[in-house]
Amino acid sequence: GFDGMPALDHEQVLIRTGPRSRLPVIVAVHSSTLGQAVGGCRLWRYADWQDGLADALRLSAGMTAKCAVAGLANGGGKTVVAVPPGAELDAATRRAVLDDVADAIASLDGAYATGPDVGTTPEDMAVIGERTPHVFCRPAQHGGSGDSSPATALGTLAALRAVSRRLYGTRALTGVRLSLVGLGSVGMRLARLLADEGADLLVSDIDPAKRAAGEELGATWASPEHALTADTDILVPAALGGILTGDVVPRLRCSAVVGPANNQLATADVAGLLHRRGIVWVPDYVVSAGGVINALTLELHHETPDVARQRVEAIEHTVADLFGTAEQRQVTLAQAATELARLRLGTPPAALRPA
Ligand code: PHE
Repeated sequence: GFDGMPALDHEQVLIRTGPRSRLPVIVAVHSSTLGQAVGGCRLWRYADWQDGLADALRLSAGMTAKCAVAGLANGGGKTVVAVPPGAELDAATRRAVLDDVADAIASLDGAYATGPDVGTTPEDMAVIGERTPHVFCRPAQHGGSGDSSPATALGTLAALRAVSRRLYGTRALTGVRLSLVGLGSVGMRLARLLADEGADLLVSDIDPAKRAAGEELGATWASPEHALTADTDILVPAALGGILTGDVVPRLRCSAVVGPANNQLATADVAGLLHRRGIVWVPDYVVSAGGVINALTLELHHETPDVARQRVEAIEHTVADLFGTAEQRQVTLAQAATELARLRLGTPPAALRPA
C-alpha cells in the first residue's frame, strides 16, 4: 500500500445510517472478479459500529475466497448491521432495519446480492425481497431456496470426512471424537448429522438453554471454554469468528480444526501457530461453502436439489485435493487453499514457500 499503509482490498463499501432504523448499515463488496458479489446479511451486536465495519471487510473477503475455492462464478460481499450492545430489536425496528438494508442493496444495482447470516432468517430475506431482487434464500413460497443451514452443515460433514480419511484412514466418523463449539442453526444441524454417524460428541454453546437439545443427541455437554481446549480428535468451531487466538492455540488438544464458523483466525499469524503445533486447519471458507453452493446452484443455475446436494458433498473432494496439493508442494493446507483461490481469481500467485 501507499507509504506502508495497508491497501483497501475492496471494490466498494457502502456505509450509511439507515434512514428508518437509525442504525449503521454496512455493505462491503470485496470482489466481482468472478461475477456478482454474494454474502449474507449479519445483524449482530457490536460495541462500536467500526467493529461491525471491520467484520464486514473481513467477512466479505472470506466470501470471495469461499466462492472461488467452491468453483462458483461469483465474488464476495457481506452486509453488517451494527446493533448497539444491549439493544433489543422489536418487530417494527427489525422491519425498519430490513427495509434499510434492502434499499442499500438496491442502490448497488446488482453488484451484490445478499442472503441469510448470523442474526437473519429466510423470512427476513423475503422482507428484503420486497424492495430488491438481489436476495437469496427466501422461503420456498416466496420463490427462494430457503434455509441455507442444512447445506452448510452437510458441507461441513463432507469436509470432516476428508479430514478423517486423511488422519484415520476412514471417511466414516464413527467413534471419532469431535468437540463442537456453537449450537446455532448450523451447529445444531451438524451435531445431529454427527450423532447419526455415531461420532463421539462433545457439544457447547454460550447459551446454556441449548444443553438439553445437545444431550438428547447423546452428546456430552461442556462450557465453550472447556470444549475449545478439550482432549479431542477434531475441534469444530461453529459459532462466531475469532475463536483461534494466539492464547488459545498453545492450549489446544486436538489433531485438527475443521468447522463452519467464518473468520476463525483472530489474526493471520495464527495459521502458522497451528501448523507448528502439527494441527491441521482446514480454512473456514472451504468448510462452510455448502450454504452458498446450495443456494446458487438452485437459484442461479436452476439445478435440481439432487445436483445441489452433490455439489455440496463435493467439498469432500475439494479438501482431499487440497491435502494432495499441500503434500506435493510441501505447504500447509491453508496455503494450498489460498493459492487455489488466487489461481481462480487470476491473481499472480505468491511464491510457494515451504511452510
Ligand atoms: N451466510 C452465508 C455464508 O457465510 C451466506 C450466504 C448463504 C449467502 C446463502 C448467499 C446464500 O456463506
